[in-house]
Amino acid sequence: MSATAKRTVTVTLDGTNKSTSLPLLSGTAGADVFDIRKMYGDLGIFTYDPGYGATASCESKITYIDGDVGILEYRGYPIEQLAENSTFLEVCYLLLNGELPNPAQSAEFELGVMRHTMLHEQIRSFYNGFRRDAHPMAIMCGVVGALSAFYHDSLDINDPESRRISAFRLVAKLPTIAAWAYKYSIGQPFMYPRNDLTYAENFLYMVYGVPAEEYKVNPILSKAMDLIMILHADHEQNASTSTVRLAGSTGANPFACIAAGIASLWGPSHGGANEAVLKMLSEIGHVDNIPAFLADVKDKDNHTKLMGFGHRVYKNYDPRAKLIQKACHDVLAELGIKGDPLLDLAMELEKIALSDPYFIDRKLYPNVDFYSGIILKAMGFPTSMFTALFAVSRTVGWVSQWQELIEDPQQRIGRPRQIYTGPATRDYVPMSKRG
Ligand code: ACO
Repeated sequence: MSATAKRTVTVTLDGTNKSTSLPLLSGTAGADVFDIRKMYGDLGIFTYDPGYGATASCESKITYIDGDVGILEYRGYPIEQLAENSTFLEVCYLLLNGELPNPAQSAEFELGVMRHTMLHEQIRSFYNGFRRDAHPMAIMCGVVGALSAFYHDSLDINDPESRRISAFRLVAKLPTIAAWAYKYSIGQPFMYPRNDLTYAENFLYMVYGVPAEEYKVNPILSKAMDLIMILHADHEQNASTSTVRLAGSTGANPFACIAAGIASLWGPSHGGANEAVLKMLSEIGHVDNIPAFLADVKDKDNHTKLMGFGHRVYKNYDPRAKLIQKACHDVLAELGIKGDPLLDLAMELEKIALSDPYFIDRKLYPNVDFYSGIILKAMGFPTSMFTALFAVSRTVGWVSQWQELIEDPQQRIGRPRQIYTGPATRDYVPMSKRG
């Protein structure tokens, strides 16, 4: 179903006799939006919305968020139910195809993804071009972008079969690319993927396994990994997804679009926040230092943020943060880690912040990144891998959104307008006449 127009909004330009009637569109759920496409033609004016806080950029059937209540759904299924009952690959199928798979579809899909996990052998040599201390996200931007040079057979974005194969390739190869980035940084041999393992198990195997001895995947860790991947799989039109869509709107190939998404995710205001949270917690160091830290956060001249708090859409507890917080406790308990100091510090920080008027008034709650770093650290991941892991999990969301964009008959090249506030037209002044 497409968005339907049931009412209109009339906009009148003050001081003129110009007015226009704009359709008010309703989706399945969420706030109505008014369609401003003919406003420039009728009134000669554009809209202004830096950061797109009030602008719907597309119609989408994939993910729904109600940020006031704290609801997240993939294709209509609540995230809590998917986290409880599903697997990451089943969620991938759901995001890509719109429905949960039946047993035959599930088996075929899993086989399809796991058959594409290897990288072209020449891609190995790309890694040697990076410094040993390169950030895994830097490596991933480069290597994912380079995939387009290896898969000329699936670059026709107008061919549904090419799009399908590219989707498989991206979802399947991202764990290998990320795991190899880690192995490269610590000087260990690259581990080739094992298709007899689940998606999450295979990732852990490629990260932690070594050729010299057998590596048995810890089921507690693989279950937690699968959950983390489900929770990060999609999040409607966030910064990185919008980046993927903007790049995709130009007709760029899917590998280039996903590389653009990875670059956008890297920023500390977005996916890079999970790494920043751990850095922040280490810098705070002790619960006694929380009040001084929060005083810095509240001082506008300081530019310090409480990382892992706040969200453009959630004005309530991020439902993913609730699920990760619980998983965090479970994993620490099952691994026999008692009283993790960082978790204790995070929980105290959360408690103090949630009772502070600064955060209450601004409706700032923990987001997914507040606890994800702690669980990933407990699972043995170095902080530099946190955002890389986010990128692995989000790839399916980006690909689903990219596919939806390409199939959308309303899609045009993304091209925002501006309010020009620079100099008015003026004549060139020769150098000899400039003072
Ligand atoms: N710490 C302190 N103050 C904050 C924080 C924070 N984490 N987040 C927002 N605020 C304040 C702002 O300074 C602003 O205050 P003001 O009204 O006095 O000027 C008010 O709350 C509203 O915030 P905005 O900046 O308008 O919120 P916006 O939607 O633009 O930004 C963002 C959202 C980028 C997530 C922001 O909350 C932030 O920087 N958080 C920390 C980084 C983080 O955790 N990012 C991960 C987000 S989840 C994800 O991308 C996976």
